[in-house]
Amino acid sequence: MNIVTLVGSLRKDSYNLQLFKTMEERYQGKLNMTLADIRSLPYFDQDEENNPPQVVKDFKEAIAKADGVIIITPEYNWSVPGVLKNALDWASRVDKVFIGKPVMAIGATLGMLGTVRAQMHLREILSSPGIQAKILPPGGNEVLIGSANQKFDDQTGKLVDEGTLSFLDNKVEAFIDLVKLG
Ligand SMILES: Cc1cc2nc3c(=O)[nH]c(=O)nc-3n(C[C@H](O)[C@H](O)[C@H](O)COP(=O)(O)O)c2cc1C
Repeated sequence: MNIVTLVGSLRKDSYNLQLFKTMEERYQGKLNMTLADIRSLPYFDQDEENNPPQVVKDFKEAIAKADGVIIITPEYNWSVPGVLKNALDWASRVDKVFIGKPVMAIGATLGMLGTVRAQMHLREILSSPGIQAKILPPGGNEVLIGSANQKFDDQTGKLVDEGTLSFLDNKVEAFIDLVKLG
């Protein structure tokens, strides 16, 4: 199963990036996860949407070809980081590559609330007319990782909290089922 992953933090030691690395390793054989380079995307410019720069074309093509998309993002000021919104804005135009695409949303934060406000905004964005993703339904499927500094290993950077990992295993299975439905 080919899964494109968007990570909403550009920080080198990002917990959300570490979560991508944890998942890439943990679910290999089930998910072939690749990381989209959203850092390189220019700011969305509607004048360019019909013939965007090559990096944008490559990004959109990767999403179009993927079986599903996983978004792993921190919360910035109660919403999604601008770099992630920018990527979604490019994807929402012209060929609208997210329509019907299975998407799983995950978030990790230092705060207690596990990015819940960002996740709620993200779900709204993913439901907009230009995106219309097939999001893993929220009831019980939200992976919200609060107090990340207590759940990731200082040395390896990987997510090590057993309760969180087994919850994640379960939700990844639900996502695989959603992807299989097509
Ligand atoms: C600009 C900015 C805004 C933030 N706003 C929030 C917020 O609204 N809610 C929250 O839980 N954490 C917030 N944080 C703290 C982040 O959870 C923390 O920096 C986290 O480590 C970011 O994720 P990362 O490790 O993947 O980079 C904010 C951090 C930054 C830099």
